[in-house]
Amino acid sequence: MQPIYEGKAKRLWETEDPTTLRMEFKNDATAFNGEKKASFENKGRLNNAISTLIYQYLEKVGVPTHFVRQIDETNVEVKRVEILMVEVIVRNISAGSFCKRTGMEEGKAFETPIIEFSYKSDELGDPLINDDYIREMKLASVSDLEFLRESALKVNGILSELFSEVGLKLVDFKLEFGRLASDPSRIVLADEISPDGCRLWDLKTGEKMDKDRFRRDLGNVMEAYEEVLGRLKARLSA
Ligand code: C5P
Repeated sequence: MQPIYEGKAKRLWETEDPTTLRMEFKNDATAFNGEKKASFENKGRLNNAISTLIYQYLEKVGVPTHFVRQIDETNVEVKRVEILMVEVIVRNISAGSFCKRTGMEEGKAFETPIIEFSYKSDELGDPLINDDYIREMKLASVSDLEFLRESALKVNGILSELFSEVGLKLVDFKLEFGRLASDPSRIVLADEISPDGCRLWDLKTGEKMDKDRFRRDLGNVMEAYEEVLGRLKARLSA
């Protein structure tokens, strides 16, 4: 059997149910648009466990997502969606490409969260785009874009609170959305939410607990992911 899609950190497989897919988390890690590569034992398991806890929580508090169920350590069943080619990034604190673009130092809290859009294209390196680009490129309608913005801010509120309860600051993160294959009028949160696509800093020590440990060669990458999982589990596992 062949996956219907293979990305940098995940594979998608068909299931017996035409309305769902199996999403497999790989151990591979990439950074800087694939220029830096590595593989970490247990990364698939850790990201799957973290993402599953977060998606179950989001569903519980009323955010529609693609999540159906966890199948095993590295696989989840998800609703089949058509992924929107717009990535939504939310920033609460200056870091990463925001600092690079603006020259602002890392660690400044924003008065209001910043929402950014990028065009989902590996070939082009996911370039930053704005509402006008999205309209003219027909990546999403004006009302869909408004929905993405509102959903991203809502998820930011929910997850900022959740992470702060476990001693972590949600600095920034990326979301992807998709149209349900069974009802394309409905857009749901898709992909994964894990330390691969979020910046998380320890509230007390400021220590980075996310993929920046890999990007910046800080070491103990999986130890940090394991710590994030342990804290979320203690808060969310009944
Ligand atoms: O690199 P940058 O500062 O723009 O990243 C902002 C946030 O979005 C980070 O948490 C990063 O992990 C995430 N991101 C991602 N996938 C991308 C680009 C950014 O998960 N293609």
